Amino acid sequence: MAVAAHSQYNCLIYNVNEGVATVTLNRHRKKNALNKEMWTELILALRSASRDDRVVVCVLTGSGDYFSSGNDLNNFIEASKRGSDAANYMTFENVPLVKLLVDILIDFPKQLIAAVNGPAIGIAVTSLGLMDVVYASDTATFLTPFTSLGQCAEACSSYTFPKIMGPSKAYEVLFFGRKLSAQDAKDCNLISEVFPEDSFQREVQTRALKFAALPRKTLQAAKKLCRDGERDHLRGALKRESDVLAVLTSSDECRDAIKNFFVRKSKM
Ligand code: COA
Repeated sequence: MAVAAHSQYNCLIYNVNEGVATVTLNRHRKKNALNKEMWTELILALRSASRDDRVVVCVLTGSGDYFSSGNDLNNFIEASKRGSDAANYMTFENVPLVKLLVDILIDFPKQLIAAVNGPAIGIAVTSLGLMDVVYASDTATFLTPFTSLGQCAEACSSYTFPKIMGPSKAYEVLFFGRKLSAQDAKDCNLISEVFPEDSFQREVQTRALKFAALPRKTLQAAKKLCRDGERDHLRGALKRESDVLAVLTSSDECRDAIKNFFVRKSKM
């Protein structure tokens, strides 16, 4: 899928310092919800980090109090406003972008670190299974309300989460939307360390700079060694998830759940 190059980012901040590329989701008034522009910019930033010889490790984080509230639910509403032919809007537009981003994460040749600075919802949680290291602030929470939104697991989490957490904990999260605290997420191996909010970004950057000073070819060979054997499984999971999601996102259950979110908000 072709994505046009931008000279500058509107929804994220991208910078490179001493071998560390930091990608900061920057739509904090909307809790860093991922709209079409944000997906496109994320794809461009990650491609840039993977191709830039100066970059050894890449850190993904959020600005403001949230890491990200997941997919922007307006995408669904806009689709349903376009009438019955547009019930598949997600299938035709954002789903290919999301799939492309997940493909980039699967193939990313350098070490990826997620710095979960606050609450994470939906795909902001499920994609963590594709990161190499995940750190979280003690204000972070992890929520996947897929069933109540008429949706299902994505970003290969139907494969990665049971492997990371074991089936019982993974399915409590993916099927029943159990919300995890930062400590819960550490206890079930989704993240490796929790830091206090006030020193969080400093702690992550200190580690990232230290990692980026390691021999870069050895780091990439180590990643290849550990990840190559997984890629076919991940692509299989992504394909199955995309097929099921395409059906679910055009269902009444999904449309009604999303409309209810906006109706509830309009009454607040
Ligand atoms: N999609 C669309 N808009 C979103 C959003 C999302 N995923 N997350 C936050 N926003 C918007 C809100 O609509 C609100 O917009 P407004 O200022 O124009 O009214 C703004 O971001 C701030 O959010 P608000 O709901 O007022 O803050 P809150 O602290 O009360 O609640 C959330 C924050 C994230 C808990 C709540 O917005 C929410 O539940 N969002 C949906 C999360 C979701 O279901 N994601 C998809 C998972 S598959």
